[in-house]
Amino acid sequence: MRAKKILVTGGAGYIGSHTVVELVRAGYEPVILDNFSNSERFIITRIRKITGRNVPLHTGDCAFREDVARVFRKEGHFHGIIHFAALKAVEESVSQPLRYYRNNLGGMLTMLEAAEQYRVPNFVFSSSCTIYGNPDKLPVRENAPVRKAASPYGETKQIAEQMLETFIQSGVPLKAVSLRYFNPIGAHSSGLIGELPLGVPKNLVPFITQTAAGLRKILQVYGDDYSTPDGTCIRDYIHVVDLAVAHIRALMYLERKRTRTFYDVFNIGTGRGHSVLEILRTFEKVTGVKVPHKIAPRRSGDIAKIYAAAGKAKKELRWHAKRSLEDALSSSWAWQSQFLSIEAKRKLGQSKSPS
Ligand code: NAD
Ligand code: WQD
Repeated sequence: MRAKKILVTGGAGYIGSHTVVELVRAGYEPVILDNFSNSERFIITRIRKITGRNVPLHTGDCAFREDVARVFRKEGHFHGIIHFAALKAVEESVSQPLRYYRNNLGGMLTMLEAAEQYRVPNFVFSSSCTIYGNPDKLPVRENAPVRKAASPYGETKQIAEQMLETFIQSGVPLKAVSLRYFNPIGAHSSGLIGELPLGVPKNLVPFITQTAAGLRKILQVYGDDYSTPDGTCIRDYIHVVDLAVAHIRALMYLERKRTRTFYDVFNIGTGRGHSVLEILRTFEKVTGVKVPHKIAPRRSGDIAKIYAAAGKAKKELRWHAKRSLEDALSSSWAWQSQFLSIEAKRKLGQSKSPS
């Protein structure tokens, strides 16, 4: 049987690296294209340690036609593309909108052109719950209205989804899904790969783990006067390994489709919401580590609550989240502890860069 090669753009990143591991486990042959604008090369070595495979790596920019053409010339036919590569810092996108448009929309455009030119039959796109803004009804369903985005980052997700849908409506032989992720957290059970935030983390869980590790003084809980049971915001936190598995199920779903042209969208979340204080308390319970924190003013742009209607993915993709919040938070802590100990040794001159 022909190998099922999957081109994974952004495969060295947080969600991409976990998905590459699950692709190997499921019998696919992932090939990574990454420009390392937000990831580290040692992650590739770690993927090899986990999978026992040398996953091919191409260093390049998925928005550059030449870089993408080089990958296709070297690798030949691809069974699918999973397109993770994007910039994702919401605040940064407000001050650098053109950089976000060029990278995220240019990347999508080039990958769609490649799918057509090289006759790739399956395409999975990383979208986000951010496209819903502040939804009227919870849990939020896939058919909820898409409102004006709150940031250029959110715009790139809305526009990229639209590009994909319109391209497919033109009759091109491509089957595709957009997966709208809720809040990914956690790390691989080996502790070898996980999220690598650049600078001061904006997201809740990396800030918690860095504060617990003593790297940050205090966690600010942004607002306790929302209309939620404890006054803090509610989100749907999804374990990154469950999220990675959703991509495999999405590929299998597209393979089951008998048509040559197809498009749909799916929420990828647990269907359950947790408040900021619940996350904090659960983290302290599972790790036994206290996290200094204080209530701070609301963060601009935050909505009170959002969580997924997860039924469509369960029914059609045959996927649901299996891992617990406790598991996700303890794996985040294991990753933070392990990565930190390596970094600390490096700073003391006792070891080289992580490998
Ligand atoms: P990440 O930054 O860890 O991974 C993205 C990877 O893409 C990085 O390795 C980066 O170097 C690479 N990259 C960026 N632009 C590139 C380009 N032009 N060419 C080649 N490589 C490029 O981010 P992540 O958390 O793994 O997110 C993956 C995808 O999921 C993104 O599209 C993101 O918008 C989306 N998403 C993330 C979240 C989240 O909270 N992490 C939530 C919803 C959606
Ligand atoms: C979660 C909750 C904060 C940090 C973001 C993007 C979204 C998507 C997922 C990509 C909120 C609170 C946070 C802190 C806090 N990404 N918080 N103190 O904002 O739900 O979603 O990541 O597509 O587009 O916006 O995630 O982790 O930043 O915040 O109290 O130091 O934690 O106010 O209620 P968010 P988050």
